Amino acid sequence: MKTEILEIDENSLAIAKDIIVNGGVVAIPTETVYGLGANAFDAEAVESIFKIKGRPNDNPLIVHVHKDYDVSALVKDVPDYAKLLAKAFLPGPLTMVYKSKGAVSAAVSCGLDTLAVRIPSHEGAQRFLKYVDLPIAAPSANVSKHVSPTSAQHVFSDLNGKIGLILDGGNSVGGIESTVLDCTGEKPVILRSGLITREMIAKVAGECGEYVYKDGMRALSPGMKYKHYSPACRTCLFNSDELDKAVVKYKEESAKGVKAYLLCDGETAERAKVRNVLNLGYGENEIAANLYSKLREGENVAELIIAIAPEKQDGVMVGVMNRLTKACN
Ligand code: TXA
Ligand code: MG
Repeated sequence: MKTEILEIDENSLAIAKDIIVNGGVVAIPTETVYGLGANAFDAEAVESIFKIKGRPNDNPLIVHVHKDYDVSALVKDVPDYAKLLAKAFLPGPLTMVYKSKGAVSAAVSCGLDTLAVRIPSHEGAQRFLKYVDLPIAAPSANVSKHVSPTSAQHVFSDLNGKIGLILDGGNSVGGIESTVLDCTGEKPVILRSGLITREMIAKVAGECGEYVYKDGMRALSPGMKYKHYSPACRTCLFNSDELDKAVVKYKEESAKGVKAYLLCDGETAERAKVRNVLNLGYGENEIAANLYSKLREGENVAELIIAIAPEKQDGVMVGVMNRLTKACN
């Protein structure tokens, strides 16, 4: 199959809709990462997403809808705090998990009685969702376990030949996946951290829990238990106060002829004074936006990525650290 990359316009939207209503998949941009979308009502189309990605079949998908879509047709028992959160943060990088009405294919939630719903803010995503006017099941558009894609080119390098169309909406500005929030209980609970932080949610909802997955526990969000976000080269991770150790490692490996690169924030890069650096930039939002593109750049040039954790570890950095730790284990 030939994989085309098209800018979003009337022509490409018509092609995309044709693919979707005929049971195919289309890669779409969002403000977090690119998604691989299919009609959520079509069981076969949804199942093909799992095959194309090589995704474990117990890891449920998020349904994406446009901002005027009637979400109450898909889910029930929406608590008051969720209405407040939706008003505050949607459209945006927040996925809300509710009790499902069972309207979409059971394959979307892998048999769970809940459904994860997301209303992305990316203008191109909104145009596409409005144009098809269907709930679109979409995981990140990478091969399972690989680094998530933040550009059309990233999707192409993972899925070339496996899908027909990538809608190009530029680089994803958010850079890490949406916050996944369980809204089925008395208070909201974060299942996956992201750009909408626990502090931001608690401010609106009064309180917000966070589910920390440990091996062997029942995974509330099955995605937590899988290896994720891994670049193709070797990796290791140092704490923010271990710059000296990381530089020693870099020099030892480089002396052996290994192509080693430091992956770190801008300030750390300045202090490290080494040649090969994958610079994540400054401030939590810039670091999040650059994380996946730097991991992908790294796997193309490096044999070993030596990552150094940023000093700040609250707010958006909770999500960044979660991805960085998984990428480097
Ligand atoms: O930003 C994003 O969320 C991106 C873009 C494309 O929208 N999508 C994304 O999808 O990251 P994916 O499939 O890579 O991650 C979905 C996460 C997984 O951790 C999955 O376990 C969880 O959401 N999830 C989906 N449905 C769920 C449900 N019903 N209950 C609990 N967790 C759920
Ligand atoms: Mg993913």
